[in-house]
Amino acid sequence: MDKANLPTFSVLPRHVGIIMDGNGRWAKSRGLPRYKGHIEGARTFRKIGEFAGDLGIECLTFYAFSTENWSRPPEEVAAIMDLFREYLRELDARKAENEEKGIQVRFLGDRRAIPKDIQRMMQYSERITRKKHRVLLNIAVNYGSRQEILHGVQALAHEVEKGRLRAKDITEQMLSDHLYTAALPDPDLIIRPSGEYRLSNFLLWQAAYAELWFTDTLWPDFTEEDFVEALRAYEHRNRRFGGV
Ligand code: IPE
Ligand code: IPE
Ligand code: MG
Repeated sequence: MDKANLPTFSVLPRHVGIIMDGNGRWAKSRGLPRYKGHIEGARTFRKIGEFAGDLGIECLTFYAFSTENWSRPPEEVAAIMDLFREYLRELDARKAENEEKGIQVRFLGDRRAIPKDIQRMMQYSERITRKKHRVLLNIAVNYGSRQEILHGVQALAHEVEKGRLRAKDITEQMLSDHLYTAALPDPDLIIRPSGEYRLSNFLLWQAAYAELWFTDTLWPDFTEEDFVEALRAYEHRNRRFGGV
């Protein structure tokens, strides 16, 4: 899309979550191995991330790999990990460019199961982009919402055990503060491509009042126009948060 002619919106979500789904089917429909779909999906991720930043969306969360995705064939998992490596190297190579755009990168999820070299690169990318503020780009890797909530509950239970907190004093805010998304606004809009109508363990607590938008398009085929369509739909949603 032409950068000089970006669409404008009467209201923009502050935080958009995207479940990048459909890579495997995209490859299969072309008679290609699944990893080719992930390669293409990674391209779409770069494109949409950049476009969303250009539109002025302040916070994006891309679901890249779930706690359940380890159950896939090892060669597929390895191919996905290689794509992370490639992306992380690119973040380093494009340091100056990203700094100019004000992109801050953060990873959500349990890092301990991720290969050590990737963990180091994740930490490094977060460090070099730490001061930037315009766009916060979250990438959920080995992320599972139930696991995230469970860890938060365990941390709070530990405080109770130590006598530092009373069970009845636990607030919603305290649990929110123990999630990977602590301090981020809740997602306003969650996009899921590929014709699946579920959250698949993505931001379950945070999505309490998120608007959901679905499309049959597979993630590798997802375009800037599709993203605009989702934002247009969001513009017309009437968010009531339980009120009238
Ligand atoms: C999403 O695409 C990428 C990951 C979950 C890592 P899929 O690989 O789930 O693609 P489909 O759903 O099999 O088509
Ligand atoms: C959701 O896609 C996870 C990511 C996109 C990272 P899946 O393909 O894993 O979800 P299910 O299995 O269809 O629910
Ligand atoms: Mg899938």
